[in-house]
Amino acid sequence: MRNIVFATNNTHKLREIRQLLGQVVKIVSLKEIGFDEEIPETGHTLKENALQKAQYIHDKYGIDCFADDTGLETDALNGAPGVYSARYAGEGCTYEDNVNKLLLEMRDAQVRTARFRTVIALILDGKTWFFEGSVEGEIIKEPKGVKGFGYDPVFQPAGYSLTFAGMPPELKNSISHRGKAVEKLTRFLKDYF
Ligand code: IMP
Repeated sequence: MRNIVFATNNTHKLREIRQLLGQVVKIVSLKEIGFDEEIPETGHTLKENALQKAQYIHDKYGIDCFADDTGLETDALNGAPGVYSARYAGEGCTYEDNVNKLLLEMRDAQVRTARFRTVIALILDGKTWFFEGSVEGEIIKEPKGVKGFGYDPVFQPAGYSLTFAGMPPELKNSISHRGKAVEKLTRFLKDYF
């Protein structure tokens, strides 16, 4: 099985991706290659950030790798927090700080529709590919559920009465932004090898 590094320091994402892709390639973590720094993330789009992260690891170690970047876009806030989802409540903030800020900003919002979008950049044999996935839903008024991470407790996907944080991980993975992007990546890798 081919080794591919997943350029993330997020252990939640690593677990999710291994569940989805573990049968096709061996997903190697940054920790396993001895990298324990923050990867610079200075782009203004999800695509730029995903590529920047994958490129950084590829340049440093010369290995096949992929990286993802995700943003939560709300219609009431004209797409915010979007590409700035990770640091929405400021440098060093927690997931809870971000959720609280979002709920505060949207306290009077009537339109509560939102979507998660993921872009994956893959660098394989020196070539680059992109894969995208998104999921529509709404931002509920109070956090519900304890699973998942990030904005999961306030994001309820369309057609479900549970938030991502209230669902079994397999269900979230089967309908999520990252799940869909990884599905495209998986199909591509199956064809490629
Ligand atoms: P990243 O830049 O791709 O790491 O994602 C930016 C931020 O979006 C993260 O810090 C999380 O707060 C949030 N995020 C990413 N993926 C998810 C998810 O699957 N559920 C909830 N929040 C997420």
